[in-house]
Amino acid sequence: MQDNNRDYLSNFPDANGYFGQFGGNHYPQAAWPALKELEATYRAVRETPEFLHDLEEARIGFQGRPTPLHFLRNTTSEIGGAQIYVKREDLNHTGAHKINHCVGFALLARKMGKRKLIAETGAGQHGVALAAASAYFGLECEIHMGKIDTEKQSVNVERMRLHGAKVVVATTGQSALKEASDSAFTAYVEQREHALYAIGSAIGPHPFPMIVRDFQAVVGREARHQFLALHDGTLPDHVVACVAGGSNAMGIYSGFIDDPEVNLHAVEPLGDSDRAGRHAATLSFGTPGTLHGARSVVLQQDDGATMQVRSVASGLVYPGVGPEIAALQDSGRLNVAVVSDDEVVRTFFRMSRSEGIIPALESCHALAFALKLAARLPTSRKILLNLSGRGDKDIDYVINNFGTGFE
Ligand SMILES: Cc1ncc(COP(=O)(O)O)c(C=O)c1O
Repeated sequence: MQDNNRDYLSNFPDANGYFGQFGGNHYPQAAWPALKELEATYRAVRETPEFLHDLEEARIGFQGRPTPLHFLRNTTSEIGGAQIYVKREDLNHTGAHKINHCVGFALLARKMGKRKLIAETGAGQHGVALAAASAYFGLECEIHMGKIDTEKQSVNVERMRLHGAKVVVATTGQSALKEASDSAFTAYVEQREHALYAIGSAIGPHPFPMIVRDFQAVVGREARHQFLALHDGTLPDHVVACVAGGSNAMGIYSGFIDDPEVNLHAVEPLGDSDRAGRHAATLSFGTPGTLHGARSVVLQQDDGATMQVRSVASGLVYPGVGPEIAALQDSGRLNVAVVSDDEVVRTFFRMSRSEGIIPALESCHALAFALKLAARLPTSRKILLNLSGRGDKDIDYVINNFGTGFE
């Protein structure tokens, strides 16, 4: 098996930032020069020995990469079906995959002579990762977060502040991730002379989805090497990730996207029902539209206003999806599944008990689906999933709302 997986990645997006019909730059004109500057810097520096050296140094020493590939032995044997392997992104410094692109943006900011990084955050994982990366690289940091999330993820707010970040609380609309993104985009346009937007997912106008994907591709590259080494050159049959904007999904898919025999699965939050307003399953129920500067699929009303969304996992409460994910679904490359809050919480308890791993509620979406998929498949089949983050941030919320799970 060739360990060379670059065809798709070098062909997409096109020169205008499109993945098929999705993507592009639909952002207010005031920000275009800043976006052009970002793209030009990124293209100029990304393959230079100095940039690659600094990135590698941060990946190994600061982040703790490579993260392990781990066999869920107990769960696999309890289920009696396909073998389940997880890429342990929860073992990254700060506890999730988000730091993979935060470190990259911090390096880009330094190259561009910017002194500050601005971003939005949902569950707080991106905010904490960016605050830590800013501290490491000596940059200022400003994080926008919905009020509802600051209350649910209060420990993450304190962690951001400990790293020296300013936390701006968004109180409009649902006071969640979309409103935090609106607020952060506005702050960026105002401060673009000295600040860089370090977006939290593979969303937004070109070049953000491309840059986030490229920095997250380290997950897929490593997972591919590790999987081939462990299985005498054979690939997984299925690759699974949860999806909000798509940064962890594009990270792991990147390693396997040119292998048609590998099935790619995106798992979305069904919340507590498939009724509008009770879930955040954009790929399943959304329609083409424009959100945060990109053409994509959006959960929207007839007049284009975004719908209310919800999920037990703050990091998945977003009424859109990254354009590349929308394009992969459109092309038929991606299978889309949903799992409910109930299944997610049961998986949280099950993993903690059977595997000694407390996964983030976001990652429990991918796990819950993988468990069901494994049960339908023979023992010879192999599933790889991106365990995108650890669930320490969710413990208080889960115990307060669902008890201890130990009957
Ligand atoms: C642990 C974890 N996984 C997944 C996600 C979803 O984001 P994305 O779709 O960009 O990977 C989040 C978002 O906050 C997260 O914290």
